Amino acid sequence: MSSVAPPDPYGEFAEFYDVYVGERLDDLPFYLEAAKSARTPVLEIGAGSGRLTVPLARGGVSLVAVDISPAMLAILKGRLEQEPDAVQRRVEVVEADARRFDLGRQFDLLVVPFYTFNYFLTREDQTSALRRFAAHLTERGRALIDVFIPLGLLERCPSDPVPKVDRMDPATGCRVRGWNIYTFDKEQQMEHRRHIFEVARPDGTVRRREFITRRRYWFREQLNALFERHGFVVEGVCRGYAGAPADERSEQLLFELRRSAAAEDLRI
Ligand SMILES: C[S@@+](CC[C@H](N)C(=O)[O-])C[C@H]1O[C@@H](n2cnc3c(N)ncnc32)[C@H](O)[C@@H]1O
Repeated sequence: MSSVAPPDPYGEFAEFYDVYVGERLDDLPFYLEAAKSARTPVLEIGAGSGRLTVPLARGGVSLVAVDISPAMLAILKGRLEQEPDAVQRRVEVVEADARRFDLGRQFDLLVVPFYTFNYFLTREDQTSALRRFAAHLTERGRALIDVFIPLGLLERCPSDPVPKVDRMDPATGCRVRGWNIYTFDKEQQMEHRRHIFEVARPDGTVRRREFITRRRYWFREQLNALFERHGFVVEGVCRGYAGAPADERSEQLLFELRRSAAAEDLRI
């Protein structure tokens, strides 16, 4: 692993992330079920603030939670501290770049939930990450990778800010309002989201933050070819978390992959 800390892609987003995402846990039953057949802990890539990590651990799943963002991991660690010892013991938190990490062990199940794969912005990022994923899987290992394609926004991108959140932050007692302004570079298949947040404190003062996150989107056939070139067999592609097959209108693709025999040759 490199000794130079990479930039934190979530440094600015972290303080708003949990309020922005809200109570979303529609993917939890799917990952709980998938974890049942794993003989090893589950390797979670891009665990972030622990939206999924902590409920999985509560459900009895042992995990290694990898993320590049110190700011997101600080929230995850804070959340874990509130949990009973048994839950805390199930989670090993690792600050690492998924494109370069080496844990020196293998897992039966690797998961990349909630669009973390879209943060690998270049072909090189994807290739490096997939090689690392394959190297961390046992022979019977499976990977579940949840990606998004913003088809609706690509067809008709609103020029005005899109309201995304208006919620009280229970941690601070502040009202948080947020908007996204989207622009797309269709040639590079890149989405730029300008996030705007306004935080109204109980004393009436308002703080405003703006920053940009960038995500790369990939179409299904591109992803199929990419996964197959980098050590995986595509076993299924679903939309949602109840097994419905994806179609050409699906804005979310959940890839179920198995490590291929060729993965052995890709180890680095
Ligand atoms: C959309 S958030 C998902 C967080 C969490 N899995 C969830 O479902 O709420 C994406 C996460 O990916 C992490 N991430 C982005 N690039 C990464 C990389 N190269 N290596 C590891 N984590 C990365 C970010 O820090 C962020 O926490």
